[in-house]
Amino acid sequence: MTTHTVVLIPGDGIGPEVADAARRVVEAAGAPVAFLERHAGVAALDRGEEHVLPDSTVSAIREHGVALKGPCTTPIGGGFGSVNVALRKRLNLYASVRPVRSLAGVPTRYQDVDLVIVRENTEGLYSGIENRITDDVIISLKVATREACRRIARWAFDYAVRRGRRKISAFHKANIMKLSDGLFIGEARAVHEADFASVRYEEVIIDAGSMRLVQDPGQFDVILCENLYGDIMSDLCAGLVGGLGVTPGANIGDAGAVFEAVHGSAPDIAGQGVANPLALIMSAAMMLNHLAESRGDGACRDAATRIREAYDRALVEGCKTRDLGGDLGTAAFTDAVIQRLGG
Ligand code: NAI
Ligand code: MG
Repeated sequence: MTTHTVVLIPGDGIGPEVADAARRVVEAAGAPVAFLERHAGVAALDRGEEHVLPDSTVSAIREHGVALKGPCTTPIGGGFGSVNVALRKRLNLYASVRPVRSLAGVPTRYQDVDLVIVRENTEGLYSGIENRITDDVIISLKVATREACRRIARWAFDYAVRRGRRKISAFHKANIMKLSDGLFIGEARAVHEADFASVRYEEVIIDAGSMRLVQDPGQFDVILCENLYGDIMSDLCAGLVGGLGVTPGANIGDAGAVFEAVHGSAPDIAGQGVANPLALIMSAAMMLNHLAESRGDGACRDAATRIREAYDRALVEGCKTRDLGGDLGTAAFTDAVIQRLGG
């Protein structure tokens, strides 16, 4: 049996707590995975690294191809740039994919939400190019390249076909940002017309789309967005199914993939042992499925399935963390999942 090396990045805030939980679940499920710990974020500086994104972390992901990552803190309004954005850019992890599904044990306003956000991960307003024209005037550059717009559109349509999804909704604001968002939807439309006529395609102006999403999320299937919109829509959609504690994600490129939850480092609850580890556990299950698909390893698929069944059962039986209205801490919820892993 092959053992896959996975780079584990605990991150900041609640990161180490939820990363430890995900690691325990993956190991208890018997997945053929060996974790190699590397650091990023403030946690890296605390360990004596000179940079928040050490080269040793980036090169380990390059070498092994897969990482499971906790959130990294980004200071607001100044200080160092986002480690998360930098990692996605350095490794060219151009597709962010975030499935949003209702969970049987987590009642919310909606049943049967089942949509996926596909977010362009390398450009847009997250180019990080900001200029101070005068003390009172700032400009931020939104970058759209034909190559990246086409690449993410193609990735989304490919994904839709592979997963049997029926429709792609491209969210945009091309009525105002005629050039940048115009390029984004223009490429999506071209990819659709050229190669993916079997998948339905629609273009939705994002403000009206946001309203439709909260009124009736069932009308959406795959939502394709540029970087900033995808970031915002991810948290909005998390709110449809129970919050940031239950939404996983992946950042995927041609040479590697980094799996991480949608949520951040949650400084308000860090160190208290109350964070919900489920979003990262779900991300770990996505990672195992990715290993199964990309390396043809059925043992990874089996472990992913057992993990999914275990957390579903735990939730249905009322095992929940505080964010979902329960009273279990991070470790106790993790134990509840592990106890339900079938043999
Ligand atoms: P956040 O996602 O960390 O927290 C928002 C709210 O949701 C907080 O009340 C938090 O307690 C709660 N929450 C988040 N995850 C939870 C979990 N697993 N269980 C229970 N409750 C949870 O967003 P916020 O506060 O805006 O950002 C905090 C820091 O995280 C910032 O420095 C931000 O830049 C960073 N961040 C990092 C991300 C990443 O590493 N990929 C993604 C998002 C934010
Ligand atoms: Mg976000």
